[in-house]
Amino acid sequence: MVNEARHDFSDRVAVVTGGAQGIGLAVAKRLLAGGARVAIWDMDAPEMARAAAALGAGEHLLTRLCDQSTWDDVQAAAMATEAAFGRIDILVNNAGIAGPAAPVASYDLAAWRQVIDIDLTGVFHCCRAVVPGMIARNFGRIANVSSVAGKEGNPNAAAYSAAKAGVLALTKSLGKELAGYDIAVNALTPSPAKTRILEQLTPEQVAYMLGKVPRGRFVAVEEAASMIAFMVSDENSFTTGATFDLSGGRTTY
Ligand SMILES: NC(=O)c1ccc[n+]([C@@H]2O[C@H](COP(=O)([O-])OP(=O)(O)OC[C@H]3O[C@@H](n4cnc5c(N)ncnc54)[C@H](O)[C@@H]3O)[C@@H](O)[C@H]2O)c1
Repeated sequence: MVNEARHDFSDRVAVVTGGAQGIGLAVAKRLLAGGARVAIWDMDAPEMARAAAALGAGEHLLTRLCDQSTWDDVQAAAMATEAAFGRIDILVNNAGIAGPAAPVASYDLAAWRQVIDIDLTGVFHCCRAVVPGMIARNFGRIANVSSVAGKEGNPNAAAYSAAKAGVLALTKSLGKELAGYDIAVNALTPSPAKTRILEQLTPEQVAYMLGKVPRGRFVAVEEAASMIAFMVSDENSFTTGATFDLSGGRTTY
């Protein structure tokens, strides 16, 4: 079973985007249990308030309303976090949306742009905002939550699949750019987890994705948090620009 305090984050400041619920909330809980101070950046104010109450972390937790598709929002969130906690050591780029379920030939143009703006450009914005400080201090850990869809491409989810594939390429580029520093940039490719994002999909899509998982079940959010905790720990001092698989056997690369 998952040992919540296995990694020591006691001197670390972490940002978890989309941490108001789902995988991000499990990550925030895990990092707080390891002693980190955590800033949640999310655009859902009521869920963020609920998360803050549930986490009960007091001065160790900052919540910040932020739409990561907007550079100004992200820059302001980074400044507010640094003002409160002094610096940002860890960035977990987790926020995302699925977008509508539709084939490419009839995919809504505005929806395509929104998915790319949030799921890909938003990750770029967050990296751009925190990397200069990480370079200045020669320390950083970045985990970008992609998806198995970014490796495989799911039908009727081209915008999401393309954005998540973009996150994998962004991770590889940034990992190489920063490899001379004690900064690790890695991506995670989970298979389906039972969170609110699945409500954006059709039952047929969920059944299709789950049917491709050899483990035959949803990945638990705690299992995702466990892998991310290692990815952003001091112990992950060598692997960078890589993809950590969390697909229950679906992808073997
Ligand atoms: N649940 C799955 O099946 C699954 C599988 C693979 C990958 N993922 C990825 O995991 C990540 C977390 O998803 P989840 O399953 O916990 O979903 P979720 O819907 O429970 O949580 C996503 C969070 O992101 C926030 N968010 C959305 N748009 C935002 C924006 N523009 N700016 C800031 N915050 C925003 C939402 O408010 C929400 O709190 C996503 O990147 C998702 O694509 C999920």
